[in-house]
Amino acid sequence: MVGEAQTIATDITPDGIFQLAAGFMAAKHLFVASEIDLFSHLAAGPATLDDLASRAGVPRRTARISVDAMVAVGLVERSGQHYRNTPSAATYLSGRGPADLRPILRFWNRISYPTWMGFEQAIRSGQAPNRQGGGFSAEDQRIFSEGIAAFAAAPAEALAVGYDFSGHRRMLDLGGGIGSYLIPVLRRHATLQGTLFELPGAAAVARQHMDREPEGARVEVVAGDFFTDPLPAGHDAILIANVVHVFSPEHNRALFQRARAAARPEARLLIVDMLTDPTRTQPLFAALAAGEYLVIAGEGDVYSDEEVRAWLLDTGWRPLERKPLAGPTSVLVAEAT
Ligand SMILES: C[S@@+](CC[C@H](N)C(=O)[O-])C[C@H]1O[C@@H](n2cnc3c(N)ncnc32)[C@H](O)[C@@H]1O
Repeated sequence: MVGEAQTIATDITPDGIFQLAAGFMAAKHLFVASEIDLFSHLAAGPATLDDLASRAGVPRRTARISVDAMVAVGLVERSGQHYRNTPSAATYLSGRGPADLRPILRFWNRISYPTWMGFEQAIRSGQAPNRQGGGFSAEDQRIFSEGIAAFAAAPAEALAVGYDFSGHRRMLDLGGGIGSYLIPVLRRHATLQGTLFELPGAAAVARQHMDREPEGARVEVVAGDFFTDPLPAGHDAILIANVVHVFSPEHNRALFQRARAAARPEARLLIVDMLTDPTRTQPLFAALAAGEYLVIAGEGDVYSDEEVRAWLLDTGWRPLERKPLAGPTSVLVAEAT
């Protein structure tokens, strides 16, 4: 009614919406704190603001803005004038813990974040360029490949430990990045040989990594496009990790078919990805990442367990089991039919 004040139910607050909307600020704060090595500087010991500014080489005023935000989000603790890492920052962000997530933060900061500027246009038009299709500069390719490897570290270790590779002799890793899965698997299975198949830019980064890893001596890196070039034959295990989300259903079916044609008759196919529930809304991370795959890979998306099983059945594979690995990532195992 005109002139009548609208009432807002007091039990419905906008707090959740504001918190969600400010998520981009929290993310950017985290990326920049990591870029200025805030957490590694704090790993050297508790620091005052002056210590921190001098260790990070930034003005005191902006060191305060950065570190206060990290206190607010729970990654840094303040006691009097001294700041220190919380256990999660010390473990994952300091470069001195058992795991290092800084490369994936760098990837999200330097590659994803600018690419998301095109998200509205991508949603409106249904189109975005495939930045993974070999279009990176050498520097961006390194940031991309190392970032994905940091994200993959925990599920890769879980696969190496949780899947029985003892019956396999040769594993082909299609779109294998820098060997984020292949290296941990080979480390735990001394007789397994690996072939890593990658686009030429990523293959070049992979070769450099193989030279640094003892298991690299058991890996042949083959450069090519898995849709158009011959796939290396004679493998009894084929891994397709975090590749399904890069492509359309049609492309994924074609890839599974090509893998089947190249595989040994007794081969197993391991699909590792963030497979969703039938509604594609769980896990939450996967539902959000669908936007990332859209802007970074053009035709990328997240897919449900049921969709991927249907592609397998269509392309000469029989799905056997699905196992959770780490976080939102799981593995779907299939056998050749
Ligand atoms: C998200 S990354 C996954 C890397 C690795 N498998 C992992 O899980 O850490 C997808 C990979 O697929 C590779 N890729 C994309 N299109 C390809 C193609 N047509 N042929 C071969 N590799 C391709 C990309 O270069 C990229 O390294």
